[in-house]
Amino acid sequence: MIKIKNSVEIGKMRKAGKLAAKLLNYIEPFVKENVTTLYLNDLCEDYTKKHGAISAPLNYNGFPKSICTSINNVVCHGIPSNKDILKNGDIVNIDVTVILDGFHGDTSRTFIIGNANDQIKNFVKRTEKAMYRGIEAVKPGKYLYEVGKTIEKYINKFGYSIVRDYCGHGIGREFHEDPHVFHHFTLDNKIRLRKGMIFTIEPMINMGNSFQVKTSQKDGWTVTTADGSLSSQFEHTILILDNGAEILTKA
Ligand code: MF3
Ligand code: CO
Ligand code: CO
Repeated sequence: MIKIKNSVEIGKMRKAGKLAAKLLNYIEPFVKENVTTLYLNDLCEDYTKKHGAISAPLNYNGFPKSICTSINNVVCHGIPSNKDILKNGDIVNIDVTVILDGFHGDTSRTFIIGNANDQIKNFVKRTEKAMYRGIEAVKPGKYLYEVGKTIEKYINKFGYSIVRDYCGHGIGREFHEDPHVFHHFTLDNKIRLRKGMIFTIEPMINMGNSFQVKTSQKDGWTVTTADGSLSSQFEHTILILDNGAEILTKA
């Protein structure tokens, strides 16, 4: 069941979204060579608490930390660790979700550490562009599958692949609500969009031609590309309005 948010709920989602966006902006200058992902986690945790909010990932289905940090071939759900030291040329997705006054704001970006070659820079830029194309494709009366259709049309021409096992999602009082938001075209998303729907668009793109992923047996969380290729991701939480989408996680 997809919940249509009322104006009070929308007001609270705007505040939660804004805080998540500010958190990502806050952490950005710390995302540099030689820092550990645990350090970034702890800074995010402190910032979130200072702003009267809660880190949603912490203890969510047993997740052990407050943010997700996914480096290089890690697709999503990377666990911050003092063993993971960012190095020149890495790409790292920082995914933050806050709970403010009972409502969730969820957003992520992929950062490049130091210098990367043009191939990698283009790959990350195109992932971000794919997310924005998806966002621009939605408005009331359209089908939700326009998101995946639009992203697929854009991404396929580069020979990259779109992860299928992880999706965007409705969001509100719950971290993950209906619907699933696929980033590739599927009739499973033949759902009419309506004003007041709130969901994330968060394509995970693999640089190689396989969308196949695997989950670490060791920690039960870390998702990597099956072929070892790089994976990048951007995420916004959006609200459907009369003329299109409002991005709630824009600082
Ligand atoms: N923030 C992720 C998302 O975009 C979910 C992380 S779940 C966790 O949906 F348990 F790994 F934190
Ligand atoms: Co999300
Ligand atoms: Co997220």
